[in-house]
Amino acid sequence: MRRVLEGRELHKSYGAVQALKGVSLRVAQGEVVGIIGPNGAGKSTLLALLAGGTRPTRGRVTFLGSDITGWPAHRVCRLGLARTFQYPRPLASLSVLENVMVGAFARLGPLAVRQAREAAHACLQRVGLADAAGATAGELCAADRKRLELARALATGPRLLLLDELMAGLTPREVKDAMGLLLELRQDGLTLVLVEHVMEAVMAMCDRLVVLDSGCKLCEGPPARVGRDQAVIRTYLGEAYAGG
Ligand SMILES: Nc1ncnc2c1ncn2[C@@H]1O[C@H](COP(=O)(O)OP(=O)(O)O)[C@@H](O)[C@H]1O
Ligand SMILES: [Mg+2]
Repeated sequence: MRRVLEGRELHKSYGAVQALKGVSLRVAQGEVVGIIGPNGAGKSTLLALLAGGTRPTRGRVTFLGSDITGWPAHRVCRLGLARTFQYPRPLASLSVLENVMVGAFARLGPLAVRQAREAAHACLQRVGLADAAGATAGELCAADRKRLELARALATGPRLLLLDELMAGLTPREVKDAMGLLLELRQDGLTLVLVEHVMEAVMAMCDRLVVLDSGCKLCEGPPARVGRDQAVIRTYLGEAYAGG
């Protein structure tokens, strides 16, 4: 299968903290790849490096054949790579619709106001937030902020989405809805990389899992095999998922 995204030997230090210590990752067209591991393992740091904006201390990132290492986020976004953040920070004083239009402008250019509004409405519809289009973004509850985050990313017209704990804090019903939506996006041809702790979703949705621990790759493979890996059970999953 065609490789769309590759991180090679990625290192990232924040002062004395080595958040990533040489992690490599390849993602093929149409794949759903899950990144799991304990808190502080380096998952969000890995997403930040893959999404551009944050420059690795060492290593390279390639997306659709271009070396995008350290590119500013808006340039990476125009190539078709979008991300959502673990802690969404919408433009709080703007409306929900306007926040999503910002994503659409990244694709359509700043003058395409009417098209951006239509695209934003369609994305809000898709994530189930159409009724809140006129609400002030700062007033949304946590679950709706996650929906807004996804709508904004979708509005950029991505070919690959990096999702950081999209399902954290959602109710079981909301997790089910989110899984349904992500499977639809996959059927539409999007490639997905998700950092997620909701193991039911990860195990059911991902073609491949990458397990991080203390800035290193602990294990990689199909969910069923990773779920049986003794080191993964010991450091992250616990016995509840053994054999899973
Ligand atoms: N901006 C930052 N400045 C300093 N340390 C950071 C920064 N971002 C992350 N870290 C540290 O890097 C390590 C990995 O963090 P992170 O990538 O957020 O882990 P995860 O997403 O797996 O919980 C942690 O020790 C964290 O405290
Ligand atoms: Mg994180």
